[in-house]
Amino acid sequence: MAMVCLSDFEAYAKKYLPKIAWDFFAAGADDCSTRDENILAYKRIRFRPRMLRDVSVMDIRTKLLGTEISFPVGIAPTGFHQLAWPDGEKSTARAAKAMNTCYIASTYSTCTLEEISAAAPGGLRWFQLYIHRNRAVSQQLVQRAEALGFQGLVLTADLPYTGKRRDDVRNGFRLPPHMTLKNLEGAFEVCKMSLLDPSVTWNDIYWLRSLTHLPIIIKGILTKEDAELAVRHGVQGIIVSNHGGRQLDGGPATIDALVEVVEAVQGRVEVYLDGGIRKGSDVLKALALGAKCVFIGRPALWGLAYKGEEGLQDVLRILQDEFCLSMALAG
Ligand code: FNR
Repeated sequence: MAMVCLSDFEAYAKKYLPKIAWDFFAAGADDCSTRDENILAYKRIRFRPRMLRDVSVMDIRTKLLGTEISFPVGIAPTGFHQLAWPDGEKSTARAAKAMNTCYIASTYSTCTLEEISAAAPGGLRWFQLYIHRNRAVSQQLVQRAEALGFQGLVLTADLPYTGKRRDDVRNGFRLPPHMTLKNLEGAFEVCKMSLLDPSVTWNDIYWLRSLTHLPIIIKGILTKEDAELAVRHGVQGIIVSNHGGRQLDGGPATIDALVEVVEAVQGRVEVYLDGGIRKGSDVLKALALGAKCVFIGRPALWGLAYKGEEGLQDVLRILQDEFCLSMALAG
């Protein structure tokens, strides 16, 4: 099978992953209107291409909080990579390093932060945090990540509770017995359910600030009001995200929300986006509307499902080539 575009990897993953894993990766909340809108919204945005502008040399490098990456696409945090490929997050880390881009490792990784670091020493990595009721667990995770050389702390703000994903409910989704949330081992002994802290507020940014010197990036912002609060609370970056449509169904596509966030922020912090990026031209649209970089969630999992780190590199390379071509053709 020739792998020409990201949809080819999606088709492969759908065909070969166990149904329960495919359904978990694909899921959106409720009737998936926000998940699908993330993709449809790109199709409504059109370029105004310019001609005869010498596009023989292109530089697609950028910087994330001062660190250079090879092109403006990173890997969004997603949980449970071993459901896609036996080496799980270790493969993800290797692929990101090989492509010289940023990998945001999830709290819900199936490899430890130590394993992820050792798999790709020196790669640019940020750690994504869900704040747990047991604050000592979250504190330890943050400090472990910092000690291991993770260079940013991404606080996910849109998951006080998990969205209702119908197929996961129907399938009774849970991790197979040989996989665990390795970074939280031990933390589950007392209480087996509902470990996320739904009482988190903006004040907890100050708490995080007191724990770590890492820059804090807040993920899940969709409005100008929250963008302003994020800046005022001293974060260094904002990821415009609706969790791939897995949380509140009925919210905006991220590419539509991006514009008001960028306008509110006025360059005071870096603004990134995830959700619905499936082509190089989507990357260009997001950058044209003010994002410094975008991140991919599901397409990274499809790449892993295809061929582990090689498959994920293929996905990134295709996006890179398509992004260059779109830039050139748009002048
Ligand atoms: C996610 N996402 C996510 N976000 C986060 O902050 N922590 C996490 O552990 C997860 N886990 C997760 C699992 C799966 C299977 C998916 C699909 C998504 C959300 C993710 O970071 C990102 O916001 C979306 O995936 C972006 O949308 P696309 O690229 O999947 O369309």
